[in-house]
Amino acid sequence: MLTPTSLADVIAEQEAIFVKRQPKSAALADRAAGVLAGGVTSNWQITQPQPVWLSHGAGGKVYDADGNEYVDLHGGYGAALAGHAHPAIVRAVKAQVERGTHFAQPTENAIVVAGELARRWGLPRWRFANSGTEATMDTVHLMRSYTGRDLIIKVEGGYHGHHDSVQVSVMPDADEAGPRDSPRQVPSSSGIPTTITGLTLIAQFNDLASVARLLDAHRGQVAGMIVEPVMMNAGIIPPLPGYLAGLKDLLHSHGALLTFDEVKTGLTVGPGGVTRQSGVIPDLVCLAKSLGGGMAVAAVGGTFPLMDHVASGGYEMVGTFNGNPLAMAAARAMLTEVATESAYERIEALRQRAAVGITAAITEFSLTGSVVTAGAKGCVVFAPEPVRDFRGFLAVDDSLSHAHWLFQHNGGVFLPPWGKIEQWLISAQHDEADIDRLIANFRTFAAAIRG
Ligand SMILES: Cc1ncc(COP(=O)(O)O)c(C=O)c1O
Repeated sequence: MLTPTSLADVIAEQEAIFVKRQPKSAALADRAAGVLAGGVTSNWQITQPQPVWLSHGAGGKVYDADGNEYVDLHGGYGAALAGHAHPAIVRAVKAQVERGTHFAQPTENAIVVAGELARRWGLPRWRFANSGTEATMDTVHLMRSYTGRDLIIKVEGGYHGHHDSVQVSVMPDADEAGPRDSPRQVPSSSGIPTTITGLTLIAQFNDLASVARLLDAHRGQVAGMIVEPVMMNAGIIPPLPGYLAGLKDLLHSHGALLTFDEVKTGLTVGPGGVTRQSGVIPDLVCLAKSLGGGMAVAAVGGTFPLMDHVASGGYEMVGTFNGNPLAMAAARAMLTEVATESAYERIEALRQRAAVGITAAITEFSLTGSVVTAGAKGCVVFAPEPVRDFRGFLAVDDSLSHAHWLFQHNGGVFLPPWGKIEQWLISAQHDEADIDRLIANFRTFAAAIRG
């Protein structure tokens, strides 16, 4: 293996290639700096060595401002399960644009979308919003409103959007996270009152005892817990057998509720998310990202008692653009024409191809790491041991993850930036040649870092 100094040289070399290929992105970044805060439209777009400015997408590919083509496995941070300009989405959106794009009154498509989500997720009542953040904010409010309790539990390393209650211990540094068994509540952004941070208790993923301790210490005060049923903002961390069912039982035994944040896992792991795969139906579920086929839409599903509480005005779940007709038309096409059983079969074959090809290269080049996949999502985890929780995730190698991202990018595969945190997304429009490019780039990377 390369020494850290040689690895730094390899990264510097790849970053130089990256920048050389993208002079127009650099020029746009310069212009943008004059009008956009940080020269980007979201802080997550501030990436090294420079943000990539895109021109367009088609099928499984995207094209940058310089005309470079990439197999798009970034998928807009997991929102492009449909790929780009999918004919069914284009048809549905075009038809709706011509019939009006906003009324703030319900349209029939909302019934079809909610019915299909109810069938897939096993939760009877649904509402819509516009982003994952709004969906998780609503479920946190709803858990509090229904139980009359203020405290919530989330896991360390879990990301659920950028509202106050969940911006706690998202990616704490090892030296501020506190002891594993009594983690500190570390604010993940400035601007959040400490009183609010104090209402969010922190547990460890895959650790029922850590939740039990919090429920015991705060008897009768915990409204519920929000958790990604497969963690997907720390690479991919699957739940251990029995963890999800155990969580539900444990929370319910304390009169507390369970929300699955399936914003990322949602349609990407399979037709009915982790909920359907695990057979554990939570009290509330949040969906967003891929649901809209590329349009901004989110959904909240819930049990009868919780959603009756909404229906009766017990909790004000509102929003001007909720159930927007354009978003509903796209979501209907997504569910009925794109995210079909046959699409999942195709994606499963591509998932296997990627996992087998990259695992073979890891073995051949004796790298420390493994491939972890969940349906259309996957990543390479550069760590000696399987990762079970955020503390294990801290051992994942940042430099190797970044170097891998650069090699993929320079080789024409766009993975999500933020190396070890994010995952690839195989879309309904990718094919074997796309996956073979991913594997070939991985082999080039592996050979380079073997030295
Ligand atoms: C698991 C999870 N929940 C919620 C969100 C927030 O979604 P949005 O960015 O649409 O607000 C994200 C975004 O990455 C997410 O990954």
